[in-house]
Amino acid sequence: MNTDEGKLTGSAYGRVATRPAEASTPPVLEVVPGDITQWSGDAVVVNLFEGVAAPGGATGAVDRAMGGELSELIAAGDVTGRAGHVTVLWSRGRLAAKRVIVVGLGSREGFDAEGARRASAAALRRANDLGARDVATIAHGAGIGGLAPLDAARATLEGAGLASYDFRGWKSSAGESRRKVATVTLLESDAGKLPPFEEAARWARAALRGAYLARDLVNTPANVATPEFLAETARTLAGSNLTVSAEDQDWAAAQGMGALLAVAKGSVNPLRFIVMEHGAAASGAPTIVLVGKGVTFDTGGFSLKTRDGMVPMKGDMAGAAAVIGTMAAVAELDLPVRVVGLCPCVENMADAEAYRPSDVLVARGGTSIEVISTDAEGRLALADALSYAATFEPTAVVDIATLTGSSIVALGAGVSASLFANDDALAARVEAASGSTGERVWRMPLFDEYRKTIESQVADMKNSGGARGGVGTAAVFLERFVNYPWAHIDMAGLELVDKAGPRHYLQPGASGYGVRLLLELVRSWGT
Ligand code: BES
Ligand code: MN
Ligand code: ZN
Repeated sequence: MNTDEGKLTGSAYGRVATRPAEASTPPVLEVVPGDITQWSGDAVVVNLFEGVAAPGGATGAVDRAMGGELSELIAAGDVTGRAGHVTVLWSRGRLAAKRVIVVGLGSREGFDAEGARRASAAALRRANDLGARDVATIAHGAGIGGLAPLDAARATLEGAGLASYDFRGWKSSAGESRRKVATVTLLESDAGKLPPFEEAARWARAALRGAYLARDLVNTPANVATPEFLAETARTLAGSNLTVSAEDQDWAAAQGMGALLAVAKGSVNPLRFIVMEHGAAASGAPTIVLVGKGVTFDTGGFSLKTRDGMVPMKGDMAGAAAVIGTMAAVAELDLPVRVVGLCPCVENMADAEAYRPSDVLVARGGTSIEVISTDAEGRLALADALSYAATFEPTAVVDIATLTGSSIVALGAGVSASLFANDDALAARVEAASGSTGERVWRMPLFDEYRKTIESQVADMKNSGGARGGVGTAAVFLERFVNYPWAHIDMAGLELVDKAGPRHYLQPGASGYGVRLLLELVRSWGT
């Protein structure tokens, strides 16, 4: 997204914000056969489970080369193996590398890929702070951790790469030097593990590229990241594995997308409907359609949000960012599945031309909608996109959206997304992808009571159930526009992170949530 640095965006009357000076790029990932004590670079990362007094494997080899210094520190209680606990030792010539970073994996019980991802991230966070440029690591959990080599390597590389993300934005302090790990080398002495490790690296490179892109898009504020900006970014991804088009208001009108058009009316930034497609030629392959909510800013419209409630709404296009990031990765991996990405992109503003509460809209396909709240705009944009998704004759459709504050109330901010589905097999696939990527979803019901709340006197349905409007009401609203196996992921509260927690691969700002989840989901049809 760094191709036209300095270009003015937005309309011409005085907006001067530009794209950020630098796009973030993940570190280079390498897989190298060899002995960890012989590798020379700024730091090597090894690990320790809680309660292990005499480390084995690569950690043991490092301990021996260091004359037992590590086991002494373990005995003294300085190095604990507690999850995410990091210790840095100077090698002083006892190893070829300058430093050893020892990271705790926590207890062996319940250890999984997420544990490896977090540990790797904690180590790389420290490596970045230390100004290390070349870092080597072992695959966490591949030994006594019991993970399959491929899974251990993927989690390690993803954690390392995600933790090294650094969004500089528009900071003008040139003096502040950017200290960042440039290369992460996965070291392995057992030649048999190299092929799965290479496969893991190929996957991690694509996943990181997608996640970095999604994070950049969400971090970019709405005066820059307009619907056209998202479209422009999507167009840069077009290539032999991906076709991209960005449709405009006239196209949406021709499609009869009265719901999407209504949301767009209040903004000077025109709507874009992004259509990305991979694998169109693959006959017989399943067709998966991914739909992402792309509200570039959500003021609530005339159902105006509060001062504080509005601030994080630059992240209301995080569903679209996740879909765009996923499509970049799907194309890079050339997965043997037909994947279509649809992003209705629109800004929700209050203006003389804006839609109002009580307006009646007619969505694509003819369903009429009484507007109760102009702040329930996401489901309107998605309704037309879900209706359009049917034209691809999909095997399955998954939408992802920062849709309701009540999803946050139900599951906790940043804890888990809500999952709804009209198909148990599809829900199970999403849950499986969630389990292996650590991007949580929790399935919720489509109860009939929710449907009652959006019955309308003047139209086929209301866009909100009013005061008791909730995460389920939004889901049953969307359900009216689907006629295929469908899953809905409400990712409200997962798009932006306030403070670093135990998921060390996240940091304040955009999370990139959804890219790894959707990528893994698509893979479930492809292999
Ligand atoms: N974009 C918001 C949902 C949201 C809230 C995302 C907080 C992230 C953090 C959505 O458009 C919205 O305003 N939903 C309303 C729906 C209501 C008016 C029925 C909500 O949840 O309050
Ligand atoms: Mn809203
Ligand atoms: Zn919204």
